[in-house]
Amino acid sequence: MQTHEIRRRFLDHYVRAGHTEVPSASLILNDPNLLFVNAGMVQFVPYFLGQQTPPYTRATSVQKCVRTLDIDNVGITTRHNTFFQMAGNFSFGDYFKREAIEFAWKLLTNSVDDGGYGFDADRLWATAYLDDDEAITLWQEVAGLPIDRIQRRGMADNYWSMGIPGPCGPCSEIYYDRGPQYGREGGPEADEDRYLEIWNLVFMQNERGLGTSKDNYEILGPLPKKNIDTGMGVERVAFLLQGVDNVYETDLVRPVITKAEELTGRRYGAVHSDDIRFRVIADHARTAAMLIADGVNPGNDGRGYVLRRLLRRIVRSAKLLGADKPTMGELMVVVRDEMSESYPELTTDFQRIENVAVGEESAFLKTLTSGTKLFTDAVETVKATKSTVIPGSEAFTLHDTYGFPIDLTLEMASEAGLSVDEEGFRSLMAEQKQRAKQDAQARKHAHADLTIYKEFVDRGPTEFTGFDELASQANVLALIRNGVRVPTATKGEDVEVILDRSPLYAESGGQIADRGVITANGLRARVNDVQKIAKTLWVHKVTVEEGQLTEGDVVDAQVDPQWRHGATQGHSGTHMVHAALRQVLGPNAVQAGSLNKPGYLRFDFNWQGALSDAQKADIESVTNDAVGADFPVHTFITDLPKAKKMGALALFGENYGDEVRVVEIGGPFSMELCGGTHVQHSSQIGPVTLLGESAIGSGKRRVEAFVGLDSYKYLAKERALLAGVAASLKVPSEDVPARVEQLVERLKVAEKELERTKAQAVLSNVGGFADRAHRVGDVLLVAEAAPAGIAGNDLRTLATEVRGRLGATPAVVVLLSDADGKVPFVVAVNKPAQEIGIKAGELVASFGPAISGRGGGKADMAQGSGSDASGIPSALDAVRKRVAELAG
Ligand code: ALA
Repeated sequence: MQTHEIRRRFLDHYVRAGHTEVPSASLILNDPNLLFVNAGMVQFVPYFLGQQTPPYTRATSVQKCVRTLDIDNVGITTRHNTFFQMAGNFSFGDYFKREAIEFAWKLLTNSVDDGGYGFDADRLWATAYLDDDEAITLWQEVAGLPIDRIQRRGMADNYWSMGIPGPCGPCSEIYYDRGPQYGREGGPEADEDRYLEIWNLVFMQNERGLGTSKDNYEILGPLPKKNIDTGMGVERVAFLLQGVDNVYETDLVRPVITKAEELTGRRYGAVHSDDIRFRVIADHARTAAMLIADGVNPGNDGRGYVLRRLLRRIVRSAKLLGADKPTMGELMVVVRDEMSESYPELTTDFQRIENVAVGEESAFLKTLTSGTKLFTDAVETVKATKSTVIPGSEAFTLHDTYGFPIDLTLEMASEAGLSVDEEGFRSLMAEQKQRAKQDAQARKHAHADLTIYKEFVDRGPTEFTGFDELASQANVLALIRNGVRVPTATKGEDVEVILDRSPLYAESGGQIADRGVITANGLRARVNDVQKIAKTLWVHKVTVEEGQLTEGDVVDAQVDPQWRHGATQGHSGTHMVHAALRQVLGPNAVQAGSLNKPGYLRFDFNWQGALSDAQKADIESVTNDAVGADFPVHTFITDLPKAKKMGALALFGENYGDEVRVVEIGGPFSMELCGGTHVQHSSQIGPVTLLGESAIGSGKRRVEAFVGLDSYKYLAKERALLAGVAASLKVPSEDVPARVEQLVERLKVAEKELERTKAQAVLSNVGGFADRAHRVGDVLLVAEAAPAGIAGNDLRTLATEVRGRLGATPAVVVLLSDADGKVPFVVAVNKPAQEIGIKAGELVASFGPAISGRGGGKADMAQGSGSDASGIPSALDAVRKRVAELAG
């Protein structure tokens, strides 16, 4: 049975049983604790916790999931995919254990003609949590499972949570016995390769707190209702129903292996180590495509790092399999063709997906060869010193300079039978991070302990009044300082304020927070920042300037109107630049981030290579034309599918069912999902001036611009600068470029002329020096101070020329000069003098100390420099004496 069919049957089965079919959520939900969605229930967490009322009591979905914890097992075991599809059914306070077991059992064992999967009931096993007698009885009653095919297991296996605080509960898993050729008798407890887990039924009934492992966390208490959350591994069921050996050989994955065989020239199934690489390629190519489709871009931390690692593992595996050309583009095509029936975004977004993947491949290919060489050298050094540990500094260089993810280095090291000093590596990384602290703002809350806010998050969202008014009355719900509730804050103190409603915009969507004040009788607190917790709770960071702020106060929260005016210009300006960029560069210029505040904006996008001057000028003029057109700005609320259909640009992370806000400027000109504050007409943005465009990482560019009055101020400053230059040049402004060009040309000519003159001047001295040579023993010696200012090459030329004039007699020329506080010197010795044992390099030692100088050279020529010009006469004496000794 094909995978698409397995999915379809699952959903149909549950829809027939009264479930609402809910689309898969994006792989990226905005939970800072969760890297990727890793289970079907993630999008339903607020329903389980009772924070939101679900629109249905029964739901079913096939959820895209990514789990990368087991990445090292990929290709080695039969069953580890980094991307997989979890088919699930959910009950929110509706049915519980009995029906959950019954529904699952029927789907598994009903015949294919009856809409089931047709599994042989005699090969199925179940597990239950230690004390869950109820489940054990139900497995016997409902499914007719004999008691010897039901096993009790402990918390690590049979008590499920997301690994972080949230809903949890005992679970019951269903296993399929693949047969004695795959391992030991004895059920899942004995062998999880022979007995393959295909489905997990979680009886979601409690809430968990913090903890350290799967079987060590606190159970906080029961959930408001008893729920069901199940997850069936679609790939695993496919692997069994298709009679293949592992998940990599199922219908949607195997074609990628076939393509990789074609591209590398090796055959799958011939050599075990090659097979692992083929499977890695097939698994990772699919995961990478799905992640890029959901908006992840390769990067150096978080989600971006995982994607980068996957892509780079593909590149390296292909290379080890003998690929001598890029392979990524063709692999992506196969993934698209196999997966798009269930995930049409792979087709509609293919160009972008391919660009991102291929871009990362070409960047990595550039450094892979040189990095591998560095690695091989390091291995040799380590082995030569009889060590087994690659130093952290090598791993750091590989990471920093060659873009090797640390895991790649670890993997290569283990292939070479070595380990890596990971601690050393990490401390170097930490140092580097320390140096580049810039991202602090963005990550302000990502890893902080948020428990103190939970009570207020649960209470419901802060009401944002700031679209309609700039001042609102509000209640002070809480004051928090350094993670602790405090009753009051007085003059001079900094404190976080939670209000029930607020007109102040909290930083999000690239727009930084509003500034303003909170006032009441005698109280005045300056709002320095506003951040969101869990997307819904506004936290105002304030400094009390006058009076006292107390929990329970009724206050006036006010936005600084001038700030807000600037912020709307900045944010609307960002939309205009985004629209212009796409108009000029095309739809592949996909937004990768933005930041805007009064007077300034920056916009990051995926793009290979620098923009030309013409493109930049076009972007600026399209933007300003749209500003000048005075387009009306229209905002409205709709749902995600409708917004997408209208062509609204969305960053990623929205939930399928979410309400979204669309900001439309000039109809089709610009339409984006956005929660920010905007001008009412585009002309209110004022002029937009692009400052420049730069690279901010591989395949990522950034444009920056001033808007509104800041734009004017910037231009006025430029104008003043130009006027200043024009005045100095004594020409009208428009003649400045021509005049500067002319001056540069003249300067070049003059410099050349000067060079020539200097050379002539130097050489005019040659005769004089040669004439003043005097005999010391058998040697003709010139030891003199050259005219001040002659240095470097000129001094050398002079010494060589003088030596040349002295003919075939043994001759030594020593010239020192006083040049800008330094004492450059040159010693030239001709062949006959060398033959009697005088060497230029050795002579330096005789006079160098007198001028605090150092230098050296060969027998014929030496040079160097000192720092004490007052020592020149004694240096000359010293060298004369030395030559006299040598000349005998
Ligand atoms: N949420 C459960 C799991 O992921 C079904 O295994």
